[in-house]
Amino acid sequence: MIGVCPTSILRSQTKYASRNLADASDSEVIGMQDQLVDIFTRDILNLPKDFKHGFVLHSGTECNEVATFIHTKQSHRNIVILSTLTHSSIENACLKLNLQLIKLPINPSTLRVDNTLLHDTIQKYNERVLFVVLTYGTTKLGTEYDLEFSSDTDKLLKENDIKLHVDAAYGGTILSFLASKKSSWQAYLSLASITVDTHKFVGSLGCGLLILKNLEDKKHIGKNAIYFSGNSTALGTTRSAYPMATALACINHFGSIKMKLIAEECRKNANIIAEAMKKYGYELLCDIESGVVPIRLGSLKEVEYTLSKLHDLGYKVSPICIDNISSTIYGFRVVVTPKPQTRKAVLERFIKSFPIA
Ligand SMILES: Cc1ncc(COP(=O)(O)O)c(C=O)c1O
Repeated sequence: MIGVCPTSILRSQTKYASRNLADASDSEVIGMQDQLVDIFTRDILNLPKDFKHGFVLHSGTECNEVATFIHTKQSHRNIVILSTLTHSSIENACLKLNLQLIKLPINPSTLRVDNTLLHDTIQKYNERVLFVVLTYGTTKLGTEYDLEFSSDTDKLLKENDIKLHVDAAYGGTILSFLASKKSSWQAYLSLASITVDTHKFVGSLGCGLLILKNLEDKKHIGKNAIYFSGNSTALGTTRSAYPMATALACINHFGSIKMKLIAEECRKNANIIAEAMKKYGYELLCDIESGVVPIRLGSLKEVEYTLSKLHDLGYKVSPICIDNISSTIYGFRVVVTPKPQTRKAVLERFIKSFPIA
């Protein structure tokens, strides 16, 4: 998913293209990183005050991978509990680190993992569980959460010293701006790490934030981080400051009121597509909660047919094939982001292309 970045910002920030985020001596760039983390922790995600540490990384995938690695450094536990809607980057990170995955199916009616199943699984594996992943903004359905996670679940995790990682790569921007009331995950005591992408909403591609609760967690990334607070030298790789600079410039340019309006526009346009699809006889997999319009199809064959027909008409949509353990949920999704390619006029043309022969 790609967000919006005005051409004037893409141009004005080129001076940061060859500046290295990992260079601790570049105090301007390090200051910008801290500012971006601060805007997200305080103003966008509304996290408690103790969440003040963060890294600017290349992507949501890298954030999820680093978070997984950090958690392994603090414990000998080796089980990660997630859902069939969890983004593949966590599964890949677990495979690389030799961790065992317990993947829980979502209830086909609620499209979340049942609270009892989650609790029973946590209790069953208890002392072996390293962390649980809660997705805020599911990739395939655009729904708010993939788990029925309650304050009781939080208590259970805390009592058993199990961490909570929230993957808000998608929802951390759009859902935070759409939320009419504060969501509850931010206050959970088990919450240890959060992934959020800026590039799914604003700025150029290549900017994800990993936000951590404990300063101690930071030193597990590598040897140097603890000595140079605020830098990411220990991540051991050169990274351009450009994507971060464009994200920060966009946030300052639009301001929070305009960003809220942009998020509302995405959801409104997603609803327009959803209504049109229903009129054409398609069924939605769920109500629209963000910019994702998930449309149900009956089989893999139908998915392949629909995608190729749309591709021939010049539209790229993503497949939905959710392997839900005992069944598979099929469909395709239209993802409305603030990018120009999903503006209303384009979407109206898309709607006219249906029903496809
Ligand atoms: C929930 C979630 N996590 C992680 C990712 C991976 O993010 P990135 O594409 O920035 O690596 C995505 C991407 O769509 C996502 O939706």
